[in-house]
Amino acid sequence: MDKLYLLYPERRGRIAPEIYGHFTEHIGGVFYGGMWVGPDSDVPNVKGFRRDVVEAFRAIRPPVLRWPGGCFAETYDWRDGIGPDRPTRINWWRNEDGRYEPNAVGTHEFIDLCRAVGAKPYFAANVTSVPPLHIRDWMDYCLSPRGSTTLAREREANGSPEPFDVPFWGVGNENWGGGGNMTPEHYADVFRTCALLMRNAAPKGRVKLFACGTSGDEYEWARGVAAGLFRSERQADGFAMHYYCGSAGDPLAFTDDEWDRQIAQAARIEDMIRRNYAVMVGYGLEERMPMVVDEWGCWHPAGSGPSKGKNLFEQQSTMRDAVVAALTLNIFNRHCDKVIMANVAQLTNLLHSLFLCGPDGFACTPTYHVFDMYQRHQGAESVGSVCENGDLSVSVSVHGGRTLITAANTSVRADAEIGLCPCGRPLPETGELVLLSHADPHAHNTFAEPDKVRPVRSAVNPRRPLTVPRASVAAISF
Ligand code: AHR
Repeated sequence: MDKLYLLYPERRGRIAPEIYGHFTEHIGGVFYGGMWVGPDSDVPNVKGFRRDVVEAFRAIRPPVLRWPGGCFAETYDWRDGIGPDRPTRINWWRNEDGRYEPNAVGTHEFIDLCRAVGAKPYFAANVTSVPPLHIRDWMDYCLSPRGSTTLAREREANGSPEPFDVPFWGVGNENWGGGGNMTPEHYADVFRTCALLMRNAAPKGRVKLFACGTSGDEYEWARGVAAGLFRSERQADGFAMHYYCGSAGDPLAFTDDEWDRQIAQAARIEDMIRRNYAVMVGYGLEERMPMVVDEWGCWHPAGSGPSKGKNLFEQQSTMRDAVVAALTLNIFNRHCDKVIMANVAQLTNLLHSLFLCGPDGFACTPTYHVFDMYQRHQGAESVGSVCENGDLSVSVSVHGGRTLITAANTSVRADAEIGLCPCGRPLPETGELVLLSHADPHAHNTFAEPDKVRPVRSAVNPRRPLTVPRASVAAISF
């Protein structure tokens, strides 16, 4: 048996609820062919969004939802998505048989979704293909009080007299790549120009502006942006890195060695957080530009999802993806002094999704259950922990006197047996264990078998040894 030490005196700060954030883009089958069916659909819906998705999503208390991209953001004109007459545009990021954007989901519809699930909206603004004034106008349209400006009156005419609360704004997306192929120096200039206008529409304090961060370990970008911003009064409120841990083998039929490789690739994010943050510390920016992990998750070869490859970047999610999600969220919890937000990519059908849905059905992925099991970390205080078993990824938090331990057994070969060691504190005799586990690490949920992988609750005695089976995720609370 290995000891898991709970270091209660080692307080690491509050876990920002926004670490449990999500991402939705107009790409593949996320909206069209996915969660958007339209208000007149026979499929039960809440203002056009599938009711099964809305209800299951609301149940895990999503704190924040990023939109409309991703890469799509850098070709998006927000005016296309308001009012009764919506143009159809080219959208490279849709599917093989329909690279068109109907704009049925626009600002009002997305706000409806956020309200229905209780999430704060996070808009990614286009800084590549529209002038900065255009972004200022979008903010004016969303944030200005009823009747105050021409754009606020236009919003009212479109059915929403009261302003939308949009507290988070991204200044571009992946501007080192699809977002304009910029150098970091050029991007820092773009950021300052846009931020000047954006702060005009919404003074500091009312909204947070996030600067485009690195692709994982591209620290030259981090240094260039920090060097360009550290003297500016128009600083960002966050540095938004992206990291996809890719794939190893087939999404459904991976070998044990490929499992190991996927886990190792996912674990790299911890070093990236530390090193990106170190650059901000180097420029004295750590308080003004903490880490936002705008996009994260596994990226497998397409074709295993419900549309069988028709929808772009669609993939199934097995227990392996659930363990990756669990270990990544544990890392964010442990680094809550550096990370203020993180958004898993993406909500429905695409990449590391929580839901699979389409004309043929609906299912929650194993990753959905991880977010459910980790819910109570949101807003809790992160405390230290050390586990003698190196295969176990752990984070611990305390909220209102209740301890939550989340542990992912990243070994696909061996179960872990642990004994809790609370370092001088008494352990109660009663607690709860929620276990997400399956005899087959390749197990996943489908429309035909939506509950093949689901968590099981049981009462446990925290003073006794606990087993975390191979390739499983456990949440222990007392
Ligand atoms: O999430 C899919 C894509 O991955 C996003 O559009 C982009 O930001 C990233 O490269």
